[in-house]
Formats: sequence, structure tokens, C-alpha cells
Amino acid sequence: MMKGVILAGGLGTRLMPCTKVTNKHLLPVYNKPMIYYPLNTLVKAGIEDIMIVTGGNYAGDFLRLLGNGSEFGLKDISYTYQEGEGGIAHALKLAENFADEEKVVVMLGDNIIKDDISDAVEEFEKQQEGARIFLKDVPDPERFGVAEIQDGRVINIEEKPEKPLTNYAVIGIYMYDNSVFEIINSLKPSERGELEITDVNNEYIRRGTMTYSIIKGWWTDAGTFDSLYRASKLVAEYGL
Ligand code: G1P
Repeated sequence: MMKGVILAGGLGTRLMPCTKVTNKHLLPVYNKPMIYYPLNTLVKAGIEDIMIVTGGNYAGDFLRLLGNGSEFGLKDISYTYQEGEGGIAHALKLAENFADEEKVVVMLGDNIIKDDISDAVEEFEKQQEGARIFLKDVPDPERFGVAEIQDGRVINIEEKPEKPLTNYAVIGIYMYDNSVFEIINSLKPSERGELEITDVNNEYIRRGTMTYSIIKGWWTDAGTFDSLYRASKLVAEYGL
């Protein structure tokens, strides 16, 4: 069975001063704490075994809020703690033991998506090896990882390019086989001193084992004041 990992660490510096007294992923998006949305997305896709990777000063609040996940129909939730600020790929590495050789679906705790991802999860279960990402046509691709596509394949991803080559943002849901942990081990920190998830994805592309789905419904991140506001508006207007 595929496992789920939600990355909910970081200092949330783009949301200061709100994140001075709590973790970003516990801030409200309309009528629920942010972390509820990725958790629901994974549960709806049939993922029952979920780990939350958090960090910073308010990690204990996740336990108080979510407990063993019974509100979401889960038997339990696993938690682990990221020391310091190592980036998304560094946080994912902490889930290696939890993954236990299985495939994983990884979701960034500040991503909110309308679509049900069950079909893509099912397809990835059948995919022999490699990874699968989700793309969304957006008006502001320079804020994200941007995918270049040729003959129906992703040929490169550029992280926050000044001049994006396409409008396809790589959203914060990634499916990986177990080789992801070996790939993370081979990464070097980027200019901002982090292990970048885009470098992980480019390695799968280099190996020729990356597939993708294009999502139809709305999607947003919620890690800045503008996107947090947009996330609340989308949930309030269109429901989730
Ligand atoms: C991260 C990834 C980026 C991705 C985005 C999705 O960026 O690095 O590739 O498009 O999440 O939300 P961050 O928002 O952490 O800077």
C-alpha cells in the first residue's frame, strides 16, 4: 500500500508575524486549519498510512489538533520532527523508515487542491518505477517550479525561473518510488542552502522515469499573504 507524507515544517517566514506564535500549517484557510486540506486530499485518495513531518517551535500543536486522526477516519497518524531548515527534500528524507520500501505520495502542507487525485494515485500504483508529478496551467509560473514539456514528456523543471518557458507550475504533490531516498542522498544543497525537490524531480527526468498528470480544478499554495488570502477565498466560494 502506498504511504502518504505531508511536509509541514519550515519557519513560515513569508507569513511573519503570524508565524511568530504558530506553525504556518495551523493558520486558518477560511474555516479550517491549513493542514486539514492536504490531509483530506490524501485520505480521499485512499491513503491510510500518513506521516506528518513538522519542525520549529510548535510541533506539539499538531498532536493537539489532529491527535490520532480519527476525525479523518484514520487509525493513527505518524509524526516526525525536522531539525533546522534543510528544505523540502531534506524533510522528505525523514520519512525513509516510515516508507519502508513502499511508494510514497508526498504533499506540501500548504497546497490546497480541488481535484480528487485518486485516479493519478491508482495509475502510479501500476507504474513500475519512477515518479509522477502534477502540473497546473497558471498565470504566474515564476513563483513555482516550471515544467518544460516535449513530445508528451517533461524534459526539465526549472525552480522559480525569471523567464518561464511554459505556464505549467509543478504543484506540491509528488509520487515517488523508493529510489527517492537514494536520490536525496546524492543531492547537493542549492544556492539557498536547501535540498530542493526540483533537483529530485530532475533526476527522475534524467533517468527517463517521470510521468505527469495535468490537474483540471483549482489549486493554490498558501504560503504568502496573497496566496493565503486566495486560498481562503477559493474555499469559501467553491467549497472543499
Ligand atoms: C515549492 C517548490 C516548487 C513548487 C511549490 C508548490 O516552492 O519548490 O517547485 O512549485 O512548492 O507550492 P515553495 O513554495 O516552497 O517556495
